Amino acid sequence: MSKIIAVCILACLLAIISVADAKCKTYLKNRFEKCLAKGFQSSIENCNGADAVLKKRQLKTCGRIETKVKQCGYTCSPPQVDGGWSDFGNWSECSAKCGEGVQTRSRSCNNPSPAHGGAECEGEKTESRSCNNGACPVDGGWSDFGNWSECSAKCGEGVQTRSRSCNNPAPAHGGAECEGEKTESRSCNQGQCPGTCKGHVCLRGEANYIALPLGSRLNSPNGDYSLVMQADRNLVLYCKGNAVWASKTTGTAVSDGLTYQADGNLVLYDPEGNALWDTETGGTRASTMVMQNDGNFVLYTDDGKAAWSTGTNGQC
Ligand SMILES: *[C@@H]1O[C@H](CO)[C@@H](O)[C@H](O)[C@H]1NC(C)=O
Ligand SMILES: *[C@@H]1O[C@H](CO)[C@@H](O)[C@H](O)[C@H]1NC(C)=O
Repeated sequence: MSKIIAVCILACLLAIISVADAKCKTYLKNRFEKCLAKGFQSSIENCNGADAVLKKRQLKTCGRIETKVKQCGYTCSPPQVDGGWSDFGNWSECSAKCGEGVQTRSRSCNNPSPAHGGAECEGEKTESRSCNNGACPVDGGWSDFGNWSECSAKCGEGVQTRSRSCNNPAPAHGGAECEGEKTESRSCNQGQCPGTCKGHVCLRGEANYIALPLGSRLNSPNGDYSLVMQADRNLVLYCKGNAVWASKTTGTAVSDGLTYQADGNLVLYDPEGNALWDTETGGTRASTMVMQNDGNFVLYTDDGKAAWSTGTNGQC
């Protein structure tokens, strides 16, 4: 029983104290806050008085109230602080080394930071803008090759060239030049020149010339036949080593060899300029002499007719 009473008394006491305490706080708080409003400068943390001057009597009263308030354990709550933006930082590097890019900058809500329930900063933390470090480099590219030029020689071996341009695209803004050659060349041949022998064919020229010098020969493409201007001055046609035709001028003083004349005649001259042998085709302007595979040695005119031949086809 006595225990119950003791507990009850303790509880009642605590209740009374807490009620008194609450009263103390409310009463003193109201009076103390009036003091602050009138300009009382308190030494309690966060209790800031208004910007005004108290009269002496009020100062005294407020001082007493402050003492009691301190005994009650009264504290002022710290003021709310709304956040404020810092300055923006520097712009970031442009996102693109060349051409259109983006850069950003940001700020912090720390000037001041929001405190004690104050508002966050309003607006965007980050802003961006477009940037351009200049046009991007363009590497050069070749155009297609142009047409081949005309062959440098009207007949015989010549050269022709063709070229291309570094304009597809042209290099720009520090881009690389095209690699490789601008020009290329190849050999070309418009056919045998007049007044020359080649292989088994000799062409008439605009002037007389020695088609077969002493010691030279004209072979058929198949290698079976040879027309030989012999050192003994005899012009002989051989088939596999057998003579099948000859000019029969052995031992005479043939000058330089077999002359192909501009008039189409084939002539063997002596050193004095006398014809020892000829094909009697002067005036036909026979244009081509050929050592044929069939064994015939033929002088042809421009229209492809035989003006003269050894008539040795098939002989061996
Ligand atoms: C911002 O830019 C200025 C001027 O270019 C420079 O002096 C400063 O160091 C930069 N600040 C930072 C944090 O990079
Ligand atoms: C290149 O050759 C073609 C075909 O022979 C011809 O049509 C074209 O006109 C030529 N181009 C030039 C630039 O000569």
